[in-house]
Amino acid sequence: MEVITDISSLRLRLKHEPSIAFVPTMGGLHEGHLSLVDIALRKAGCVVASIFVNRLQFAPTEDFDQYPRDLTDDCEQLENRGVDVVFAPEEKTLYPVAQEFMLEPPPVADTLEGEFRPGFFRGVATAVLKLFNIVQPQAAVFGKKDYQQLHMMREMVRQLNLPVEIVGGEIVRTSDQLALSSRNRYLSDGERAEATRLHQVLSQVKQGIANGDRNFHELEENAKRILCDHEWKVDYIAIQQRDTLMPAQAGDENLVILGAAWLGKTRLIDNLEVPATRV
Ligand code: PAF
Repeated sequence: MEVITDISSLRLRLKHEPSIAFVPTMGGLHEGHLSLVDIALRKAGCVVASIFVNRLQFAPTEDFDQYPRDLTDDCEQLENRGVDVVFAPEEKTLYPVAQEFMLEPPPVADTLEGEFRPGFFRGVATAVLKLFNIVQPQAAVFGKKDYQQLHMMREMVRQLNLPVEIVGGEIVRTSDQLALSSRNRYLSDGERAEATRLHQVLSQVKQGIANGDRNFHELEENAKRILCDHEWKVDYIAIQQRDTLMPAQAGDENLVILGAAWLGKTRLIDNLEVPATRV
């Protein structure tokens, strides 16, 4: 595996690759990321992963400085999994001047994550578009844990006619069903034990829908109440249409339940897709 930090060397290395699958990451790697690599390996002859903590998608109050950075460990994991090339640019390489050209995402970017992290998807989309321009992959793999990000990437390639297939990878969970996340390492032992409640309340909402409950507002409010009763600070619990990420109406099928909430100083997100209840 080669680790490349500058753009011209990367372009030279990839110039004659007939098919490239790309896994963009911010490092802090875990089995969730590695499962995306597995998908990429089935998609193309050459797999490129990037490691870049993208300042543009962090608000000044967020954890940019604290975000886990261990290039040696990340590269070891990627090499063991079969990645061909790691692109690990320094900040000055990707942003040699202030990034004033920004990609303006559609209004859905101001809902859910975007409501609580203003500018987040603008920062993600701008960075990923730059990475796509540099790597020029045929396919790129994103995890479903960041469900809205995956949606935004599909819209970006569709609306900007980018020749990249966006592939979604399933959420990887611990045995007690906590979705893997680089931020889980911020949790204290007590918080780690409590953290599984987010998945539990989403599962209860899913079960309610499976049982025919179509009062989505009440289902959302009940879930929020349970979390609040256990000292969580809830950003949102929302039942949305899967394809548009708009709020679901009572007759809709193909739903996804998304949640984001704070446990102490750690913000966790999770989601569950709901299979259609009617044939
Ligand atoms: O999901 C992430 O790790 C980041 O948002 C991404 C896609 C690498 C862009 O910085």
